[in-house]
Amino acid sequence: MKRIVTVFGTRPEAIKLAPVIIELQRHVERMENLVCVTAQHREMLDQVLDWFQIKPHIDLDLMKPDQGLPEFVSDALLAVHKMLRELKPDLVLVQGDTATVMVTALAAFYLHIPVGHVEAGLRTRELYDPFPEEINRRMAGVLSTYHFAPTARAAAALRAEKIPEQNIFFTGNTVVDALLMTVNRPLASRLDVAEDGHRRIILVTAHRRESFGAPFESLCLALNDIAERNHDVQIVYPVHLNPNVRDPVFRLLGGHERISLINPLRYEQFAHLMSRAYLILTDSGGIQEEAPVLGKPTLVMRATTERPEAIEAGTARLVGTDRGRIVAETERLLSDASAYSRMACAGSPFGDGHAAERIVNALLGRL
Ligand code: UD1
Ligand code: UDP
Repeated sequence: MKRIVTVFGTRPEAIKLAPVIIELQRHVERMENLVCVTAQHREMLDQVLDWFQIKPHIDLDLMKPDQGLPEFVSDALLAVHKMLRELKPDLVLVQGDTATVMVTALAAFYLHIPVGHVEAGLRTRELYDPFPEEINRRMAGVLSTYHFAPTARAAAALRAEKIPEQNIFFTGNTVVDALLMTVNRPLASRLDVAEDGHRRIILVTAHRRESFGAPFESLCLALNDIAERNHDVQIVYPVHLNPNVRDPVFRLLGGHERISLINPLRYEQFAHLMSRAYLILTDSGGIQEEAPVLGKPTLVMRATTERPEAIEAGTARLVGTDRGRIVAETERLLSDASAYSRMACAGSPFGDGHAAERIVNALLGRL
């Protein structure tokens, strides 16, 4: 019997690992499946654990308000290392590019425990963009043995970095599995935002560290312009719990009739809101992958993206954080029906909803 410990800490990691954990549970006779959360996020993580009914075996409960990177990374390195030393797994599974992922891969490396990296091979090749995720995922890649690439482009990036071919698995992105599992289940409670069916919903999220300061203020001012100039739209913005996000957002956008600033939504509520939205404006990684599955045109408010597949497919456009550009691109999609429908119909390049199955099959074959 092999022991796998899956370690994660934030909302997106939980969403993208939930299908893998559920799939691993179907093979308990061959693999013991333990779940450890660092709780780098607390409330936003717990919402996802609750929806997918995942009960962690170990909760390190590390989040502190307004945590700095060095503080979280050093606390987490010690705590994860101690946990892995005690559990002695045959494999550690991580996902993505957060501090939790980088630290867990490093702790496992110190203990000579092989690591499987889900969503491997995403790259912008920019040191500070996105910050610190580009380096987190590159470090996780260097420290991992098994690499689960969500797209052909990601697999090619890993090959170019001389990862042995037999350790690269092209699986699709597990976010598609999670989304399909979610939108196919009815909501337990009514979604009480944006009930006014007359206005088109523009769904917004933004939380990236490299945008803090002037770029973030610029994108907030763009949202204000859009709401001022377009009386038939309602901007709905579930605001990330990071105080560096909440402070400027509430200061610059609070109180506008056509801007609803709300708390982070439970995943199933957010997924249903995405499917009701007319358009999505975001800097999120995961939402860039989900929106094409639901046929929602997306404007990516970032300078670079490690997910160019959606842009190449035509479902997303990279618009940066410039106020005028965001307003112009949004108004184009509000007024030009054919430009809108070209984006809405372009299709998803991120997978078929069976990524978790492929990952677990690869693990069954190799452990
Ligand atoms: C983290 C990840 C980022 C990922 C994002 C997803 C790092 C360095 N950053 O960024 O890659 O895209 O999560 O959302 O790993 N907070 C709460 N409750 C929560 C979550 C956050 O109060 O449930 C607040 C806390 O004050 C916390 C702060 O947000 O200290 C920042 O959280 P942190 O995980 O360090 O950074 P994020 O910006 O969330
Ligand atoms: N999401 C959610 N509730 C919200 C906003 C987003 O459940 O209020 C989900 C979204 O569907 C996606 C994930 O959170 O799956 C993206 O997380 P985030 O944007 O925080 O991180 P990133 O993907 O940028 O790392």
